Amino acid sequence: MKFFIDTANLEQIKEAQDMGILDGVTTNPSLMAKEGITGTDNIMKHYVDICNIVDGDVSAEVISTDFDGMVREGEALAELHEQIVIKLPMIKDGIKACKYFSDRGIKTNVTLVFSPGQALLAAKAGATYVSPFIGRLDDISTDGLNLIAEIRHIYDNYAFETQILAASVRHTMHVIDCAKLGADVMTGPLKSITGLLNHPLTDIGLEKFLADYKKGN
Ligand code: E4P
Repeated sequence: MKFFIDTANLEQIKEAQDMGILDGVTTNPSLMAKEGITGTDNIMKHYVDICNIVDGDVSAEVISTDFDGMVREGEALAELHEQIVIKLPMIKDGIKACKYFSDRGIKTNVTLVFSPGQALLAAKAGATYVSPFIGRLDDISTDGLNLIAEIRHIYDNYAFETQILAASVRHTMHVIDCAKLGADVMTGPLKSITGLLNHPLTDIGLEKFLADYKKGN
C-alpha cells in the first residue's frame, strides 16, 4: 500500500519523507490556499518545491472545467516535473481529458469521486489513480469505506490497472480499514500517518527495557 500525504505544507511533507515511508503527495486548491500559496506562478513554483522533497508522484490539480482548458493547464503542469500527476475533476470533460493524457503516457488522478459508476468511468478513461473521498462521504452519514470495497470489487472483476487512491482519509482507522479492503494508495494528513506509530504497550515496554538495561550498567 502506498502512503501519500495530503497537504501543501512543506514542513509536513519533509517530516513524512524523513520517516522513509512516503510514496507521494496529493494537493488541491484548498490545501494550497491554506498554506497561503496563491497566484498561478507561486502555485507552479510550489509544485516544483514539493517534487524536490519527495521521490514519488505529486498530484497537481487543474482548475479549468472545460476540456481545452484542462489540456492546456495539464500540459503546463506536466512540463514542470516528471513526478507531476495531472489531477482532473470527475466531470464529463475531466474524463475526456483523462483519456487524452493517458493516451499520451501522462499520469492522471481523477478526483472528487463519490460513486462506483464514477470510478468505472475513470478506469475506462485510463486513469492512473482514482480518488474516492471517504471522509466526505462519512461526513454525510454514508459509508465511505464501502465505496472502496465496491470499487475494489469492480476493478478486480476486469483487472483494471487504475490504482484506488483512498482520499479524504481523516484518521488512522481509515488507513487501516483501507489497507484491509485493498486500496492501492491512501492519502491523508500527517497525523493519520504518524498516529499509526502509537501504542501504550510500546511506550511501557520501551521504558522497561531501558530501565532494565541501566540496572546492569
Ligand atoms: C484528495 O486528493 C483530496 O485532496 C483530499 O483527500 C480531500 O480531503 P478532505 O475531504 O479532508 O478535504
